[in-house]
Amino acid sequence: MAKTADENFKQGEEFIQTFHREDLGYDGCIKAYDDEKIVKIYHSMREIMSYDVSGTIANILAGLIPDITKAKILDLAAGSGMIGKGLYDRGFRNVDAHDGAAAMVDYCRTTGHYKDFFTCFVGNGQTLPMEDDTYDGISCSGATVNIHLPASAQREIARVIKPGGQNIVVNAAKVEIEQYAQGLGTSKTCQHINMDKAQVRNINMSTLYHN
Ligand SMILES: C[S@@+](CC[C@H](N)C(=O)[O-])C[C@H]1O[C@@H](n2cnc3c(N)ncnc32)[C@H](O)[C@@H]1O
Repeated sequence: MAKTADENFKQGEEFIQTFHREDLGYDGCIKAYDDEKIVKIYHSMREIMSYDVSGTIANILAGLIPDITKAKILDLAAGSGMIGKGLYDRGFRNVDAHDGAAAMVDYCRTTGHYKDFFTCFVGNGQTLPMEDDTYDGISCSGATVNIHLPASAQREIARVIKPGGQNIVVNAAKVEIEQYAQGLGTSKTCQHINMDKAQVRNINMSTLYHN
């Protein structure tokens, strides 16, 4: 029998509590997401909560990147692909999905919103498989929170994004990791946009990537 919205929400809340466990660690975080049942619960919960910043992210990127049908975008820590949907609906057609949890990436494959797929942990010395200077823009929604992307993942974000003023990293949802709010430690110039938990209400744009 199909689950009710209340049941989904409760299970989703229980899942989120997982990340309050101090001993979970970064690997434990990925394992927690890497489960088909969790993918469905997570996806439906986000719908119930109307937590959807995808349109905002897509509009921000579209406002700053000239040719959105060609612009190469990375949806970092894509989860169940909600940002990919927003980008697709806005007209982006060259978006790659990345996540450390294979079950999440597998779900993204079914959506038709992405071009290429990458399953790998990023940060703590583990790198992305893409070449330097690959992407015109990167979205990163909901992954700069406790025990998700380590601050060291920023080096990889900076490496794969193209240098230049039109390149954007959007960190949506609460930025709990201070380094993400401050920016990256590289010499690349690009725009870095942080959105607070209330989304759109407080968009904080800064040019960064200073040494
Ligand atoms: C809260 S979800 C956000 C998903 C999606 N961006 C969204 O806004 O709905 C966080 C995602 O980050 C992924 N993740 C967390 N830490 C990661 C890491 N170090 N490397 C790769 N993926 C990671 C998880 O597997 C999970 O799918």
